[in-house]
Amino acid sequence: MRVQARVAARAAAGLPVFPLHVGQPATGAPAPVLAAARAALDGHTIGYTEALGLAPLREAIAGHYARTYGIELDPARVGITTGSSAAFQYAFLAAFEAGDTVAVTRPGYPAYRNALLALGCAVELLPCGPEAGYLPSVAALEALPAPPAGLVIASPGNPTGTMLAAAALAEIAAWCAAHGTRLISDEIYHGLSYGAPAATARQFDRSAVVVNSFSKYFSMTGWRIGWMLLPEELYDPVDRLAGNLALCPPTLSQLAAVAAFESYEELDRNLVRYAANRAYLLDALPAAGLGSFAPPDGAFYVYIDVSAYTDDSLTWAARLLDDTGVAVAPGVDFDPVDGRGYVRLCFAGDSSVLREAVDRWGAWLR
Ligand SMILES: Cc1ncc(COP(=O)(O)O)c(C=O)c1O
Repeated sequence: MRVQARVAARAAAGLPVFPLHVGQPATGAPAPVLAAARAALDGHTIGYTEALGLAPLREAIAGHYARTYGIELDPARVGITTGSSAAFQYAFLAAFEAGDTVAVTRPGYPAYRNALLALGCAVELLPCGPEAGYLPSVAALEALPAPPAGLVIASPGNPTGTMLAAAALAEIAAWCAAHGTRLISDEIYHGLSYGAPAATARQFDRSAVVVNSFSKYFSMTGWRIGWMLLPEELYDPVDRLAGNLALCPPTLSQLAAVAAFESYEELDRNLVRYAANRAYLLDALPAAGLGSFAPPDGAFYVYIDVSAYTDDSLTWAARLLDDTGVAVAPGVDFDPVDGRGYVRLCFAGDSSVLREAVDRWGAWLR
C-alpha cells in the first residue's frame, strides 16, 4: 500500500508508472455483472440482506461448485462475505481462541498473519521457500513443534502462484483431520491456472473452511464480495459474528454477483491474456537478469529471488520505482524472514505495459 501511494504521487506528477505491484486484474467486472448492477439500482431498494447473504447468490455459488468441481453443496451452508477478507476474520474468530497457534505459509499472503495476531492468536510460520518448491507439505507440518489449532493455505498461492496437486492437497487435509487442525483453504485464485485446474479442499475435508472471492477470476476486487463454505458446526457462530460485525455484505454487489456465473466466456478471455503474459515473462525475466523464480502454476504473480542484487528489497524496489517508474511489491510483506531477498510482480495488467516494464527493469539492472 505504501508502494501504491508512491505510484499515485508519481502519476499525479505526470511521471511514467508501470504498476506491477498490486495483485488485481486490470479489467473491470464482466458485462453481465455491470448490467445486473444497473438493473438493481433501478429496481431495488438496496437495503440490508441476511447476514450471510441473499439466497439466489448462495444458490448460484452452489451451481458454480457443481459445474467446476462436480460437487453438490447445500446453499444454506454457503456464506457471502465482504470480500474473502471478511471471511478470514469470521473463520478465525469462530474457529480459534486467543492463544491458539495457527500455521501460515512463509512466503504467504500477509493479512492472514496480521489478522491472526490482531485476534490474539500465535502465528507459526511454515517454511515454504525454494527448498520446499514454494509449497506446503505434510513433511513441513510434521516438522512443527506441535500440531497447530489451524492451518491456512492458498493454492494457487500468493506471492508465488505455485499450486498443490490434488493428491498433495488431499494429504494435507488428511493430516489436518487426523491432528485436530482446522484447515482454512484460501481458494481465491481458483479459475486462474495454466495447467490442470485446482482442486478444492471441500473434496477432501468437510470440516475445512473454504474461502473464495469474486475479486480475482471474476475481476471484481472493489466490489468487496466473497464467500465461504462452512462446516455444519461453524455456520451459526459465523452467522452471528457476521450479523454483529458487519450486518451484511454489500447488497448491490450481491445482486450483481449473481450474474458473474453467466460470465465464464468473458472471464476466460482474461485468462488467455494472463497466460500470454506469463509465457512472455518465463523467457523475458531470465533475459533481463531476473531468472530465479518458480514458474507460476496459477494466479498472476511471479515471486523473484533478487538476493544476487540486494539484501534489502524494500529499498531496492523503492529505487527501481524512482529510477524507472516500475513498481513491484517487496518480499518483506510476504516473508518476514527471507523476504528481503525477493520481490513480487503481478502480470494481470496490460501486456504492452508489462513488456515496457521488463525492458526498463533489465536496462536498470545492466
Ligand atoms: C491470497 C489472498 N487471499 C485473500 C485476498 C483478499 O482478497 P479479497 O478480500 O478481495 O477477496 C488476497 C488479495 O490479494 C489474496 O492475495
